[in-house]
Amino acid sequence: MPLHDKFGRRITDVRVSVTDRCNFRCVYCRSADPENYRPEDELLSWDELVGVARVLHGLGLEKVRVTGGEPMVRPGVIEFISRLRDLGFHDLSMTTNGQLLAESCDRLIRAGLHRINISLDSLDAEKFERVTRTRKFQSVMDGIHAAQASSLRPVKVNAVLVRGLNDDEVEAFAELARSAGITMRFIEFMPLDADRHWSRAVVVPAAEVRSRIHARWPLVQVPHAPSETARKYRFADGAPGEIGLIAPVTEPFCGHCSRIRITADGKLRTCLFSLQDHDLRPFLRNGASDLDLADFIKEKVLEKEHGHRINEPDFVPPSRTMVFIGG
Ligand code: 5AD
Ligand code: SF4
Repeated sequence: MPLHDKFGRRITDVRVSVTDRCNFRCVYCRSADPENYRPEDELLSWDELVGVARVLHGLGLEKVRVTGGEPMVRPGVIEFISRLRDLGFHDLSMTTNGQLLAESCDRLIRAGLHRINISLDSLDAEKFERVTRTRKFQSVMDGIHAAQASSLRPVKVNAVLVRGLNDDEVEAFAELARSAGITMRFIEFMPLDADRHWSRAVVVPAAEVRSRIHARWPLVQVPHAPSETARKYRFADGAPGEIGLIAPVTEPFCGHCSRIRITADGKLRTCLFSLQDHDLRPFLRNGASDLDLADFIKEKVLEKEHGHRINEPDFVPPSRTMVFIGG
């Protein structure tokens, strides 16, 4: 029986966070405050992460996305990807801020990586610095171009739009999609930021992004799998590139969710917005069998949340913010 929840959703994808560290401090994610990382021994070792992945593969999961924090900052991540490939996962992807990508692209591909998502929140170097609180704009652009020149496909670039910060760049991002032939995805800002600055007023609705791009370059909707987070569009004039709109706030897609998450410190999260997570470390560290771990995961996944409650009046954001969950 494949992994599923009590609403009949089949779980096929896992996002594995390999570190809570990041070399950026994006305003919509991490706090600018001093480091508040988990101590090293709380994080799963590579062997422990492979152990969890082996059990998930046995439960029928097909896709793994490696994430963080920033996955590229943990030494050994490339070897981890090759171990995931050896377990038999046929869809391996990574979410990265792209800073260390240019130099590692070839090794990631040799390790078995198929796809990549790179975050880029501004095409203006100065604004990029304000968003990420780093001066790495050029390294990220180099990373995007290295990925685009490689065999990784598709290359997706993700921008989180925040009203008043980067919402003036929608058309510029769309132009990047057209000129570089990449998939440009716009993500609605979610209440997962460490500084708790999220408010509905700064969310840029996907419908607005759609109509602004459509006014300039007419868009044609492309079919998508129901469990995909993005609504996809191509350009009617035949230009290369694609637009993806991810609207967790204004057009929730929880009904077809196929995802679970494993955090770097070994917690199973059945939803980004789970208020509770489930510790796998005792299983991994006390010699439990794969079967015991599989049973525990099946039991917790069965209780996966119906959906996030961002739009409910009594919504409570999870205490873990994005950098401690993994996107
Ligand atoms: N809302 C939406 N997306 C976010 N990300 C990080 N924090 C947030 C947030 N509060 C995104 C990053 C990256 C992925 C890891 O998650 O931009 O694409
Ligand atoms: Fe780091 Fe990504 Fe969070 Fe930015 S969004 S601080 S790059 S984990």
